Amino acid sequence: MQVLVVGGGGREHALAWGLSKSPEVKQIWTTSDNAGINRLARYVGGAEKSIESLARWAQEQRIDLTVVGPEAPLSEGIVDAFRSRGLTIMGPTQQAAELESSKVFAKETMVRAGIPTARFVVCDTSTQAKQAVRQLGAPVVIKADGLAAGKGVSICHTVTEADACIVAMMEERLHGEAGSRVVVEEYLTGEEVSVLAFVAGEEVILMPPCQDHKTVWEDDRGPNTGGMGAYTPVPAVHEALLEDIRQRILLPIVRTMANMGRPYSGVLYAGLMLTDRGPHVLEFNCRFGDPETQVIIPRLESSLAEVLWAVATDRLSETKVRWNGHAAVCVVLASKGYPGSYRVGLPISGLEKAAAYPCVQIFHAGTRREGDTVVTAGGRVLGVTAWADDIKQAVDTAYAAANAIEFPGKHCRRDIARKALIRQ
Ligand SMILES: Nc1ncnc2c1ncn2[C@@H]1O[C@H](COP(=O)(O)OP(=O)(O)O)[C@@H](O)[C@H]1O
Ligand SMILES: [Mg+2]
Repeated sequence: MQVLVVGGGGREHALAWGLSKSPEVKQIWTTSDNAGINRLARYVGGAEKSIESLARWAQEQRIDLTVVGPEAPLSEGIVDAFRSRGLTIMGPTQQAAELESSKVFAKETMVRAGIPTARFVVCDTSTQAKQAVRQLGAPVVIKADGLAAGKGVSICHTVTEADACIVAMMEERLHGEAGSRVVVEEYLTGEEVSVLAFVAGEEVILMPPCQDHKTVWEDDRGPNTGGMGAYTPVPAVHEALLEDIRQRILLPIVRTMANMGRPYSGVLYAGLMLTDRGPHVLEFNCRFGDPETQVIIPRLESSLAEVLWAVATDRLSETKVRWNGHAAVCVVLASKGYPGSYRVGLPISGLEKAAAYPCVQIFHAGTRREGDTVVTAGGRVLGVTAWADDIKQAVDTAYAAANAIEFPGKHCRRDIARKALIRQ
């Protein structure tokens, strides 16, 4: 089987790594120059410039399965374009991907499906939005409707702060057209967890729950990032709660999407807040999470290619998805300055030493090969994943391996999975 992985970050490296262990896979192709992925996959050679040219290339190359990492190509209709050429691709159609690409659509669909979510008001003008802020009261959350590369959500602690945020988003167009409509939303408190599922037709198979670490500094301080680390399993999400999440959140959204003529197929990611009134949905993503994937894939015992193929061809009900009982932890190594501006092209050392630890995998997020050296090429540079029988051991191993890697300005949070350790 020839598989194409679209995207070039840590998530896609984890997917390529998982696929490389699948007995069915003969050749992996990549759209990126990520130094980690390039050890496992061949570059498509410029065909990634547009969805159309990539689809044409995939047809000529006789690619058997395409797996899409990031949300942007999904929301631009890559699945529709590949399917119209008779190609097999894993992911939702453009219409189904609106569950992520429009927060308004997502909230309205959640209401239709009867899914617990924060109270909200959809606003087309800044006057409406300011009114909604007064109606809901501070603290309050302002969300740009469209995709904003993870920067479109503001938690506002006062009405004044919320007003300033509304002006920035709606009048000054801080996030461009994405902020022409906003959702003003009730602020929820609790522990945040990510529950991902493989979805095809009516079939919904949950992956092990994980927890991400959004902010750049320890103790949830500082600006939000793409994610500074993750771990699984999450002690707070016991079996009964997971079943509740499946019954009251994932199955209803999948059924409702089908009823709306937008059947969902692919990976569905529910971002949840465990409130004292039960789990509430913060958002849906229409793809694997980053860095959640870097801890989920090491727990998959089944062949990743077989599972993704089953999703893409609507044969999930015939497939058994098996997970191991390990705990897994991923520590992200980032560039100094991230999520603001940062330097690239800095040499990385210690990769081999880190990779020599047993039960460790180094996933490259923003790296590039320059001659014999691997250099930094992004805000998030590497994700060091370790797995073990328990979280404590996985944390210790992940940090030991992370400490072996050096590059100028290396930054990582020192408290990944601490919440789980405290609970144990
Ligand atoms: N209603 C809410 N109450 C409290 N925190 C929220 C709420 N909605 C979002 N957040 C916080 O903001 C983060 C980003 O919001 P999310 O809806 O996931 O948007 P995106 O991932 O597209 O930026 C969440 O991970 C969560 O920490
Ligand atoms: Mg999110």
